[in-house]
Amino acid sequence: MTKQIAAETLREWLDAQQPVTVLDIRADEDRAQWAIPGSLHLNAYEALRAGQPGALAGASFPRDRPVVTVCNAGGVSQTAADVLTERGFDARSLAGGMKAWSLAWNTAEVQLADPSVRVIQVRRTGKGCLSYIVGSTDDAAVIDPSVSPDVYLQIASRHGWSIRYVLETHVHADHLSRARELALQTGAALLLPAQQRVRFACTVIADGERVVLGNAGLTATHTPGHTDESTSYVLNEAAVFTGDTLFINGVGRPDLHAAPEAARQRARRLFASLVRLRGLPPGMVALPAHASEPIAFDGRAVAAPMGAIAAWLSGWLVSEDAFVERVTSQLPPTPPNFVRIVDLNEAGEFPTSDPTDLEAGANRCAVT
Ligand SMILES: [Fe+2]
Repeated sequence: MTKQIAAETLREWLDAQQPVTVLDIRADEDRAQWAIPGSLHLNAYEALRAGQPGALAGASFPRDRPVVTVCNAGGVSQTAADVLTERGFDARSLAGGMKAWSLAWNTAEVQLADPSVRVIQVRRTGKGCLSYIVGSTDDAAVIDPSVSPDVYLQIASRHGWSIRYVLETHVHADHLSRARELALQTGAALLLPAQQRVRFACTVIADGERVVLGNAGLTATHTPGHTDESTSYVLNEAAVFTGDTLFINGVGRPDLHAAPEAARQRARRLFASLVRLRGLPPGMVALPAHASEPIAFDGRAVAAPMGAIAAWLSGWLVSEDAFVERVTSQLPPTPPNFVRIVDLNEAGEFPTSDPTDLEAGANRCAVT
Protein backbone atom coordinates (compact mmCIF):
# COMPACT_ATOMS: atom_id res chain seq x y z
CA MET A 1 0.00 0.00 0.00
CA THR A 2 1.31 3.40 -0.91
CA LYS A 3 1.98 5.62 2.09
CA GLN A 4 0.17 8.95 1.89
CA ILE A 5 0.55 12.24 3.68
CA ALA A 6 -2.25 14.75 4.14
CA ALA A 7 -1.68 18.31 2.92
CA GLU A 8 -2.22 19.56 6.48
CA THR A 9 0.50 17.22 7.82
CA LEU A 10 3.00 18.33 5.17
CA ARG A 11 2.07 21.92 6.02
CA GLU A 12 2.86 21.26 9.69
CA TRP A 13 6.19 19.61 8.80
CA LEU A 14 7.26 22.56 6.66
CA ASP A 15 6.05 24.99 9.30
CA ALA A 16 8.16 23.18 11.92
CA GLN A 17 11.17 23.16 9.53
CA GLN A 18 11.17 19.37 9.75
CA PRO A 19 13.61 17.80 7.22
CA VAL A 20 11.68 16.52 4.19
CA THR A 21 12.33 16.28 0.47
CA VAL A 22 9.31 17.37 -1.57
CA LEU A 23 9.52 15.97 -5.10
CA ASP A 24 7.22 17.56 -7.66
CA ILE A 25 6.79 15.18 -10.62
CA ARG A 26 4.40 17.35 -12.66
CA ALA A 27 4.91 18.50 -16.22
CA ASP A 28 6.91 21.71 -16.70
CA GLU A 29 3.86 23.80 -17.61
CA ASP A 30 1.98 22.77 -14.45
CA ARG A 31 5.03 23.43 -12.30
CA ALA A 32 5.42 26.88 -13.85
CA GLN A 33 1.95 27.87 -12.60
CA TRP A 34 2.65 27.25 -8.94
CA ALA A 35 4.68 24.96 -6.71
CA ILE A 36 5.43 24.05 -3.10
CA PRO A 37 8.22 26.32 -1.82
CA GLY A 38 11.55 24.48 -1.60
CA SER A 39 10.34 21.49 -3.62
CA LEU A 40 12.53 19.69 -6.19
CA HIS A 41 11.22 19.19 -9.69
CA LEU A 42 11.58 16.14 -11.91
CA ASN A 43 9.19 16.01 -14.83
CA ALA A 44 8.22 12.33 -14.67
CA TYR A 45 4.44 12.56 -14.88
CA GLU A 46 3.86 11.25 -18.39
CA ALA A 47 6.56 8.59 -18.15
CA LEU A 48 5.20 7.21 -14.88
CA ARG A 49 1.71 7.26 -16.22
CA ALA A 50 2.96 5.31 -19.23
CA GLY A 51 4.34 2.67 -16.86
CA GLN A 52 8.04 3.61 -17.06
CA PRO A 53 9.33 3.52 -13.48
CA GLY A 54 12.82 4.25 -14.85
CA ALA A 55 11.67 7.87 -15.09
CA LEU A 56 12.85 8.33 -11.49
CA ALA A 57 16.10 6.39 -11.89
CA GLY A 58 18.17 9.54 -12.00
CA ALA A 59 16.62 11.03 -8.90
CA SER A 60 18.85 11.18 -5.86
CA PHE A 61 18.06 12.80 -2.53
CA PRO A 62 19.24 12.60 1.05
CA ARG A 63 18.38 9.24 2.61
CA ASP A 64 18.01 10.62 6.12
CA ARG A 65 14.60 12.19 5.56
CA PRO A 66 11.22 11.32 4.08
CA VAL A 67 10.38 12.06 0.47
CA VAL A 68 6.93 13.41 -0.42
CA THR A 69 5.92 13.00 -4.05
CA VAL A 70 3.52 15.53 -5.55
CA CYS A 71 1.39 15.69 -8.69
CA ASN A 72 -1.76 17.60 -9.63
CA ALA A 73 -4.36 15.46 -7.90
CA GLY A 74 -2.44 12.79 -5.97
CA GLY A 75 -2.78 9.90 -8.45
CA VAL A 76 0.50 9.48 -10.34
CA SER A 77 2.44 10.67 -7.29
CA GLN A 78 1.43 7.36 -5.67
CA THR A 79 3.26 5.48 -8.42
CA ALA A 80 6.26 7.73 -7.82
CA ALA A 81 6.14 6.99 -4.09
CA ASP A 82 5.96 3.24 -4.81
CA VAL A 83 9.00 3.41 -7.10
CA LEU A 84 10.99 5.32 -4.48
CA THR A 85 9.86 3.00 -1.67
CA GLU A 86 11.20 0.07 -3.69
CA ARG A 87 14.52 1.89 -3.93
CA GLY A 88 14.59 2.09 -0.14
CA PHE A 89 13.35 5.63 0.43
CA ASP A 90 10.82 6.55 3.11
CA ALA A 91 8.46 7.85 0.43
CA ARG A 92 4.86 8.95 0.61
CA SER A 93 2.45 10.63 -1.79
CA LEU A 94 0.76 13.96 -1.10
CA ALA A 95 -2.93 13.00 -0.85
CA GLY A 96 -5.01 15.15 -3.19
CA GLY A 97 -1.89 16.62 -4.81
CA MET A 98 -1.57 20.33 -5.53
CA LYS A 99 -5.35 20.66 -5.47
CA ALA A 100 -5.38 19.76 -1.77
CA TRP A 101 -2.24 21.87 -1.21
CA SER A 102 -4.24 24.89 -2.35
CA LEU A 103 -5.56 25.18 1.25
CA ALA A 104 -2.14 25.10 2.93
CA TRP A 105 -1.14 28.21 4.85
CA ASN A 106 1.57 29.68 7.02
CA THR A 107 2.04 32.83 9.06
CA ALA A 108 4.47 35.70 9.56
CA GLU A 109 4.35 38.54 12.01
CA VAL A 110 4.68 42.02 10.52
CA GLN A 111 7.38 44.03 12.31
CA LEU A 112 5.86 47.23 13.69
CA ALA A 113 7.34 49.87 15.99
CA ASP A 114 4.49 49.86 18.53
CA PRO A 115 4.56 46.58 20.51
CA SER A 116 0.98 47.11 21.71
CA VAL A 117 -0.36 46.56 18.18
CA ARG A 118 0.42 43.29 16.43
CA VAL A 119 -0.25 42.23 12.88
CA ILE A 120 -0.01 38.61 11.79
CA GLN A 121 -0.03 37.83 8.11
CA VAL A 122 -1.84 34.57 7.35
CA ARG A 123 -0.70 33.36 3.94
CA ARG A 124 -2.38 30.80 1.76
CA THR A 125 0.92 29.69 0.34
CA GLY A 126 -0.08 28.07 -2.95
CA LYS A 127 -2.47 30.73 -4.12
CA GLY A 128 -0.51 33.62 -2.64
CA CYS A 129 -3.59 34.98 -0.81
CA LEU A 130 -2.64 37.20 2.13
CA SER A 131 -4.97 37.83 5.05
CA TYR A 132 -4.32 39.51 8.36
CA ILE A 133 -5.12 39.49 12.04
CA VAL A 134 -4.64 42.83 13.75
CA GLY A 135 -4.60 42.45 17.54
CA SER A 136 -4.31 44.92 20.38
CA THR A 137 -5.03 44.35 24.08
CA ASP A 138 -7.90 41.83 24.07
CA ASP A 139 -9.39 42.46 20.65
CA ALA A 140 -8.65 41.57 17.06
CA ALA A 141 -9.83 42.27 13.54
CA VAL A 142 -9.38 39.93 10.59
CA ILE A 143 -8.92 41.37 7.10
CA ASP A 144 -9.69 39.38 3.92
CA PRO A 145 -9.89 35.87 5.46
CA SER A 146 -9.06 33.26 2.81
CA VAL A 147 -8.50 30.10 4.88
CA SER A 148 -10.70 28.22 7.31
CA PRO A 149 -12.15 30.29 10.18
CA ASP A 150 -10.48 27.78 12.56
CA VAL A 151 -7.06 29.13 11.60
CA TYR A 152 -7.94 32.69 12.69
CA LEU A 153 -9.69 31.43 15.81
CA GLN A 154 -6.61 29.46 16.84
CA ILE A 155 -4.26 32.39 16.29
CA ALA A 156 -6.58 34.75 18.15
CA SER A 157 -6.93 32.41 21.10
CA ARG A 158 -3.15 31.89 21.28
CA HIS A 159 -2.79 35.66 21.72
CA GLY A 160 -5.78 36.06 24.03
CA TRP A 161 -7.72 38.07 21.45
CA SER A 162 -11.44 38.06 20.68
CA ILE A 163 -12.25 38.66 17.03
CA ARG A 164 -14.49 41.76 17.02
CA TYR A 165 -14.40 42.74 13.35
CA VAL A 166 -14.07 40.96 10.05
CA LEU A 167 -13.28 43.31 7.18
CA GLU A 168 -13.03 42.83 3.44
CA THR A 169 -11.10 45.15 1.15
CA HIS A 170 -13.40 44.21 -1.76
CA VAL A 171 -15.46 41.39 -3.22
CA HIS A 172 -12.81 38.83 -4.16
CA ALA A 173 -12.57 37.02 -7.49
CA ASP A 174 -9.73 34.58 -6.91
CA HIS A 175 -10.77 32.80 -3.73
CA LEU A 176 -13.95 32.06 -1.83
CA SER A 177 -14.28 34.55 1.00
CA ARG A 178 -14.35 33.10 4.50
CA ALA A 179 -15.41 36.49 5.94
CA ARG A 180 -19.08 35.81 6.41
CA GLU A 181 -18.48 32.37 7.89
CA LEU A 182 -15.86 33.76 10.30
CA ALA A 183 -18.16 36.60 11.37
CA LEU A 184 -21.05 34.19 11.94
CA GLN A 185 -18.85 31.87 14.00
CA THR A 186 -17.38 34.61 16.19
CA GLY A 187 -20.25 37.08 16.38
CA ALA A 188 -17.87 39.71 14.99
CA ALA A 189 -19.17 42.65 12.96
CA LEU A 190 -18.79 42.02 9.22
CA LEU A 191 -17.62 45.21 7.52
CA LEU A 192 -17.59 45.72 3.76
CA PRO A 193 -17.04 48.81 1.62
CA ALA A 194 -20.21 50.35 0.14
CA GLN A 195 -21.32 48.49 -3.00
CA GLN A 196 -24.45 47.15 -4.66
CA ARG A 197 -23.04 43.69 -5.05
CA VAL A 198 -23.45 41.42 -2.03
CA ARG A 199 -26.77 39.79 -1.20
CA PHE A 200 -26.25 39.24 2.54
CA ALA A 201 -26.38 41.42 5.63
CA CYS A 202 -23.23 43.34 6.47
CA THR A 203 -22.21 46.71 7.87
CA VAL A 204 -20.95 49.26 5.36
CA ILE A 205 -17.69 50.98 6.22
CA ALA A 206 -17.41 54.25 4.33
CA ASP A 207 -14.37 56.29 3.33
CA GLY A 208 -12.88 57.88 6.46
CA GLU A 209 -14.72 55.65 8.95
CA ARG A 210 -12.65 54.14 11.69
CA VAL A 211 -12.86 51.05 13.86
CA VAL A 212 -10.85 50.80 17.05
CA LEU A 213 -9.50 47.78 18.91
CA GLY A 214 -7.23 48.47 21.85
CA ASN A 215 -4.52 50.84 20.61
CA ALA A 216 -5.20 50.02 16.97
CA GLY A 217 -7.35 52.23 14.76
CA LEU A 218 -8.27 51.07 11.26
CA THR A 219 -9.41 53.85 8.94
CA ALA A 220 -11.16 52.99 5.67
CA THR A 221 -9.71 54.71 2.62
CA HIS A 222 -11.73 54.22 -0.55
CA THR A 223 -9.30 53.22 -3.31
CA PRO A 224 -11.45 52.19 -6.30
CA GLY A 225 -10.01 50.79 -9.52
CA HIS A 226 -9.41 47.06 -9.12
CA THR A 227 -13.11 47.02 -8.30
CA ASP A 228 -15.39 50.01 -7.71
CA GLU A 229 -15.72 49.30 -3.99
CA SER A 230 -12.06 48.49 -3.31
CA THR A 231 -11.00 50.02 -0.01
CA SER A 232 -7.68 50.13 1.84
CA TYR A 233 -7.43 50.21 5.63
CA VAL A 234 -4.86 52.44 7.31
CA LEU A 235 -3.62 51.15 10.67
CA ASN A 236 -2.51 54.07 12.89
CA GLU A 237 0.63 55.62 11.36
CA ALA A 238 2.07 52.13 10.97
CA ALA A 239 0.62 50.17 8.07
CA VAL A 240 -1.89 50.13 5.24
CA PHE A 241 -3.82 47.08 4.06
CA THR A 242 -4.02 47.68 0.32
CA GLY A 243 -6.14 44.71 -0.81
CA ASP A 244 -5.75 44.13 -4.53
CA THR A 245 -5.21 47.83 -5.25
CA LEU A 246 -1.46 47.91 -4.66
CA PHE A 247 1.03 45.06 -4.36
CA ILE A 248 4.71 44.95 -3.42
CA ASN A 249 5.72 44.98 -7.08
CA GLY A 250 2.60 45.66 -9.09
CA VAL A 251 -0.89 47.11 -9.13
CA GLY A 252 -4.38 45.62 -9.24
CA ARG A 253 -5.94 44.62 -12.53
CA PRO A 254 -8.95 46.74 -13.45
CA ASP A 255 -10.66 44.41 -15.90
CA LEU A 256 -12.36 41.58 -13.99
CA HIS A 257 -16.10 41.68 -14.58
CA ALA A 258 -15.73 44.74 -16.81
CA ALA A 259 -16.09 45.37 -20.53
CA PRO A 260 -13.03 47.00 -22.17
CA GLU A 261 -14.34 50.59 -21.86
CA ALA A 262 -15.40 50.04 -18.24
CA ALA A 263 -11.96 48.59 -17.52
CA ARG A 264 -10.37 51.76 -18.87
CA GLN A 265 -12.58 53.85 -16.61
CA ARG A 266 -11.62 51.69 -13.67
CA ALA A 267 -7.97 52.13 -14.63
CA ARG A 268 -8.48 55.92 -14.37
CA ARG A 269 -9.92 55.52 -10.89
CA LEU A 270 -7.07 53.18 -9.99
CA PHE A 271 -4.61 55.87 -11.07
CA ALA A 272 -6.21 58.36 -8.65
CA SER A 273 -6.28 55.75 -5.87
CA LEU A 274 -2.60 54.97 -6.32
CA VAL A 275 -1.73 58.67 -6.26
CA ARG A 276 -3.63 58.84 -2.97
CA LEU A 277 -1.79 55.83 -1.51
CA ARG A 278 1.58 57.13 -2.69
CA GLY A 279 0.96 60.18 -0.49
CA LEU A 280 1.05 58.05 2.69
CA PRO A 281 4.11 58.41 4.94
CA PRO A 282 7.14 56.57 3.48
CA GLY A 283 7.67 54.57 6.68
CA MET A 284 4.17 53.12 6.62
CA VAL A 285 4.21 49.41 5.74
CA ALA A 286 2.09 48.32 2.76
CA LEU A 287 0.34 44.98 3.30
CA PRO A 288 -1.37 43.66 0.16
CA ALA A 289 -3.93 40.87 -0.28
CA HIS A 290 -1.72 38.88 -2.65
CA ALA A 291 1.80 37.82 -3.39
CA SER A 292 2.81 36.99 -6.93
CA GLU A 293 4.56 33.74 -5.97
CA PRO A 294 3.94 30.82 -3.60
CA ILE A 295 4.89 31.96 -0.12
CA ALA A 296 7.78 30.24 1.64
CA PHE A 297 7.55 28.90 5.18
CA ASP A 298 10.10 31.51 6.20
CA GLY A 299 8.16 33.60 8.71
CA ARG A 300 8.97 36.73 6.71
CA ALA A 301 6.00 38.96 5.96
CA VAL A 302 5.25 39.95 2.39
CA ALA A 303 5.43 43.70 2.98
CA ALA A 304 7.28 46.84 1.93
CA PRO A 305 7.51 50.38 3.25
CA MET A 306 5.52 52.89 1.19
CA GLY A 307 8.79 54.69 0.49
CA ALA A 308 10.18 51.65 -1.34
CA ILE A 309 6.92 51.20 -3.23
CA ALA A 310 6.79 54.88 -4.21
CA ALA A 311 10.23 54.43 -5.83
CA TRP A 312 8.83 52.14 -8.55
CA LEU A 313 5.22 53.29 -8.45
CA SER A 314 6.15 56.85 -9.40
CA GLY A 315 7.36 55.49 -12.75
CA TRP A 316 3.83 54.16 -13.35
CA LEU A 317 2.14 57.41 -12.30
CA VAL A 318 3.85 59.88 -14.62
CA SER A 319 0.72 60.32 -16.74
CA GLU A 320 -2.82 59.02 -16.38
CA ASP A 321 -3.12 58.13 -20.07
CA ALA A 322 0.12 56.15 -20.09
CA PHE A 323 -0.98 54.37 -16.90
CA VAL A 324 -4.34 53.40 -18.39
CA GLU A 325 -2.60 52.08 -21.48
CA ARG A 326 -0.13 50.12 -19.39
CA VAL A 327 -2.63 48.41 -17.09
CA THR A 328 -5.15 47.59 -19.79
CA SER A 329 -2.65 46.24 -22.34
CA GLN A 330 -0.62 43.85 -20.13
CA LEU A 331 -3.38 41.87 -18.53
CA PRO A 332 -2.67 38.32 -17.44
CA PRO A 333 -5.28 35.59 -18.15
CA THR A 334 -8.35 35.87 -15.93
CA PRO A 335 -8.31 33.76 -12.74
CA PRO A 336 -9.83 30.30 -13.21
CA ASN A 337 -13.54 30.10 -12.32
CA PHE A 338 -13.63 33.76 -11.30
CA VAL A 339 -17.19 34.31 -12.50
CA ARG A 340 -18.47 31.50 -10.29
CA ILE A 341 -16.30 32.56 -7.34
CA VAL A 342 -17.52 36.17 -7.57
CA ASP A 343 -21.11 34.95 -7.74
CA LEU A 344 -20.68 32.85 -4.58
CA ASN A 345 -18.90 35.71 -2.80
CA GLU A 346 -21.72 38.09 -3.72
CA ALA A 347 -24.26 35.58 -2.46
CA GLY A 348 -22.25 35.00 0.73
CA GLU A 349 -22.34 31.29 0.09
CA PHE A 350 -19.61 28.81 0.75
CA PRO A 351 -19.96 25.62 -1.31
CA THR A 352 -20.67 22.44 0.63
CA SER A 353 -18.55 20.54 -1.89
CA ASP A 354 -14.73 20.71 -1.91
CA PRO A 355 -13.84 24.43 -2.32
CA THR A 356 -10.53 23.57 -3.99
CA ASP A 357 -12.43 22.41 -7.08
CA LEU A 358 -13.13 26.09 -7.72
CA GLU A 359 -10.08 27.67 -6.20
CA ALA A 360 -7.20 25.58 -7.52
CA GLY A 361 -4.45 27.42 -9.33
CA ALA A 362 -2.31 30.46 -8.83
CA ASN A 363 -3.76 33.91 -8.27
CA ARG A 364 -3.92 36.37 -11.12
CA CYS A 365 -5.07 39.65 -9.59
CA ALA A 366 -2.02 41.78 -10.39
CA VAL A 367 -0.47 43.65 -13.28
CA THR A 368 3.30 43.81 -12.89
FE1 LIG B 1 -9.24 40.94 -6.14
